[in-house]
Amino acid sequence: CGIVGYVGPKPALDVVVEGLARLEYRGYDSAGVAVLADGRLGTAKRAGKLVNLRNALADEPPPAGTLGMGHTRWATHGPPNDRNAHPHTDCSGTIAVIHNGIIENFAALRAELEERGHKLNSDTDTESVAHLLEDELAAVGDGGLAEAMRRVCGRLEGAFTLVAVHAGDPDLVVGARRNSPLVVGVGKGENFLASDVAAFIAHTRDAIELGQDQVVELRADGVRVTDFEGRPAEVREYHVDWDVSAAEKGGFDYFMLKEIAEQPRAVADTLLGRVGADGRLTLDEMRISDQELREVDKIIIVACGTSYHAGLIAKYAIEHWAGLPCEVELASEFRYRDPILSRSTLVIAISQSGETMDALMAVRHAREQHAKLLGICNVNGSTLPRECDGVLYTHAGPEIAVASTKAFLTQLVAVYLIALYLAQVRGTKWGDEVFAMVQLLAQMPDKVDKVLETMEPVRELARSLAGERCVLFLGRHVGFPVALEGALKLKELAYMHAEGFAAGELKHGPIALIEEGLPVVVVVPPRARDVLHDKIVSNIQEIRARGARTIVIAEDGDSSVEPYADTLIPVPAVPTLLQPLVTTVPLQVFACELATAKGHDVDQPRNLAKSVTVE
Ligand code: G6P
Repeated sequence: CGIVGYVGPKPALDVVVEGLARLEYRGYDSAGVAVLADGRLGTAKRAGKLVNLRNALADEPPPAGTLGMGHTRWATHGPPNDRNAHPHTDCSGTIAVIHNGIIENFAALRAELEERGHKLNSDTDTESVAHLLEDELAAVGDGGLAEAMRRVCGRLEGAFTLVAVHAGDPDLVVGARRNSPLVVGVGKGENFLASDVAAFIAHTRDAIELGQDQVVELRADGVRVTDFEGRPAEVREYHVDWDVSAAEKGGFDYFMLKEIAEQPRAVADTLLGRVGADGRLTLDEMRISDQELREVDKIIIVACGTSYHAGLIAKYAIEHWAGLPCEVELASEFRYRDPILSRSTLVIAISQSGETMDALMAVRHAREQHAKLLGICNVNGSTLPRECDGVLYTHAGPEIAVASTKAFLTQLVAVYLIALYLAQVRGTKWGDEVFAMVQLLAQMPDKVDKVLETMEPVRELARSLAGERCVLFLGRHVGFPVALEGALKLKELAYMHAEGFAAGELKHGPIALIEEGLPVVVVVPPRARDVLHDKIVSNIQEIRARGARTIVIAEDGDSSVEPYADTLIPVPAVPTLLQPLVTTVPLQVFACELATAKGHDVDQPRNLAKSVTVE
């Protein structure tokens, strides 16, 4: 979910709704606002995307006030209807609460509240908080919203960001944070609260990162942060290094199109300043020494969704260059098996948002087992970097479209850098190759640019396949995770059945799926990998013989695939391990165009949210 709070001289409704528009990628099941005006609380909420709320506000504007908050929801408890939309209010209608996360003990709290005579109207876990605040405020008195919030937080289990306003505290917005993101935007005579700096970047680039179990009191002239016991808390202030234009569409119809186009720059920015003349890699916040890296004897990568696919590719790079055993695990599965970790295990968590709860829980589990923790993350101020010993930030800039594109490419750059750095500090046999690779990485922005220049046939192909029900993707070696990513993009955006397979596995089952006209995308390794290359060319022949319509992504000039490709998508020649940087791009363009042809909103696919802060 996305959360915005504001207090200052401006009309709060405008600031809040504009902030929500920038946070809609976090959830779009419903949206709602609360504004305090002349000591009275006004609220409005609507199921569906923000536009529904905007229309409702246009028909019936709430009273104009300069303090308010808003919420855009990704439903967890209760269906996405008007009633379950946030804000939720107490019995008196003077307290409003918005929430991101899950309150795990809400059923018990709700029963207790109902026993005390509270009448709850929604199916949500959030509404209980409004009623708990009502009882605590009755004990503390007007002006005591922050204290009431601290007391309530002490009773909650689970993950939450809460923001509350109260008609009896007309100058105050109170926020609380445990396990879900919340940042403060510090302005002049005005202050902001939000799940992500994007919500207030048009007003200020100065931010404060809140820690675990903290409560913030936001007034126009100041910000006070305490822990749940009321003791003043330490916070980290930082400056956001991108501006509002980075969070706007800049002439593109969709954020996704803009983000695909930004990939050469994102790759270049992620490389920038990372590799010194001596070949050393610079990590941003590093509490892992070279000596400790030399002692690492196993690497485990944890991640979700697209980031998991970056992890799968990392495995090939780390095993090859660094010579270390590497496992890759879906973060949501990791702590529920019995992973064998020790002080010499390095756990690398990859997360664009740095807020994915599954990834954070995996990291915490690894911490308990004393492993070293390295995060790869795109969002400064998010939770993941704080919970790791070291972090390598990807510099993709804000990624707004729900399906990840430019963040994925920068994650690949980050894992290559880490694999190469490990090789350097550990002195593996690939010394010369490592050096050559670092040089080659510098050419990757140009190669990605070349791919983008040649995408018109891919778009045409995508439009021609809009009526299909199923597409398969095949790859080998690093081309296998690329196939998985191509299939995921198509599922996410076009709601089509799409599967990625390791091409070598084809004969063990999936080949039974091949029928006349079935589109199958095949990612072919560079010709230099002759054995792998030749095997996959055989696979293409096998599926074509069974009627598949073959769409082949291969190195430019690879004539050996031409006879078997119904459509050939050439990409620039690059070494095998780096090939995902160029082979993924056509698959992104393909899914995006196909989904657009079907009339879908590629920025906000159904049922998804960009940052899933619940387990
Ligand atoms: C969500 C998004 C995916 C994303 C995944 C992991 O499910 O819809 O696009 O890949 O989360 O996100 P992260 O921020 O941890 O990389």
